[in-house]
Amino acid sequence: MKMISTILTSSLVGASLFLSVAGSAIAAGGGGADLEHFTPVRTDKSLQRGAKVFVNYCMGCHTADYHRYSHFARDAGLSDTAVVENLIFTTDADGEASKIGSLMSNNMTAEYGKQAFGAVPPNLALTARSRGVDWLYTYMKSFYLDESRPLGANNKVYPQVGMPHALADLQGWQVPVYEDDGDGGEKFVRFQQVTAGSLSADEYDDTITDLVSFLDYLGDPNREARHSLGIKVMLFLFIFLIIAVLLKKEYWKDVPHNA
Ligand code: HEC
Repeated sequence: MKMISTILTSSLVGASLFLSVAGSAIAAGGGGADLEHFTPVRTDKSLQRGAKVFVNYCMGCHTADYHRYSHFARDAGLSDTAVVENLIFTTDADGEASKIGSLMSNNMTAEYGKQAFGAVPPNLALTARSRGVDWLYTYMKSFYLDESRPLGANNKVYPQVGMPHALADLQGWQVPVYEDDGDGGEKFVRFQQVTAGSLSADEYDDTITDLVSFLDYLGDPNREARHSLGIKVMLFLFIFLIIAVLLKKEYWKDVPHNA
């Protein structure tokens, strides 16, 4: 019995050490100093609202074409018809409406993107993985009015960005406020709203929460399933360990210790 408890304790200690190391490694990948912390929401309702913003405000320029509408419908608890009626506004290369099984793509060519914006709007399917959700959340809240830019917008976390402020109608416009940093320079302190959008500041935050949660979903659609399977596998291994130890005892019990 003593041996079993020693094995159990050491495997528990090992597992928790592993988990804490893995946890801090993930946290360290979070991003720079000035980013707001963001925790994605993974509920059907939030995914549906996020997808709505994405198809209405982003897909004119960006694609997410590692994904099919049908897969999203299943993951967000929507019927195929609901997705066709409410979320599909794109057409295929022949001008026909995209189908439920189509990839979340659009018709903008790379040359057009380069010409119009100075940069090709990237595929956003994996951006939540490459940039991190903190970066995305802060980015979507950091567009500001800047007449010196070709499209009138600049961004605090992506200076000289080629993208216009796609959600200016919702957020309105803001400008950065700077303060003397005591070293003869200036430091950014906060944004000040100069024109109102159709949403209040809180409503805009909620919209960005849904949008970035949707982008997080695109980057890792099966996370929930993977985590719950992972826990089941660990549990199975744990129970199997007990059985294996008992079995080993059974096999060796007739062998004299000092034979
Ligand atoms: C009018 C076209 C247009 C629209 C609409 C648009 N974008 Fe963009 N976006 C761009 C362009 C162009 C870039 C590349 C900017 C650059 O590299 O300077 C970009 C870049 C980005 C990036 C940075 C990606 C990276 O890793 O560098 C993110 C994130 C992004 N867009 C998100 C969005 C979201 C979310 C929406 C919808 C709310 C949206 N965009 C709507 C044109 C657009």
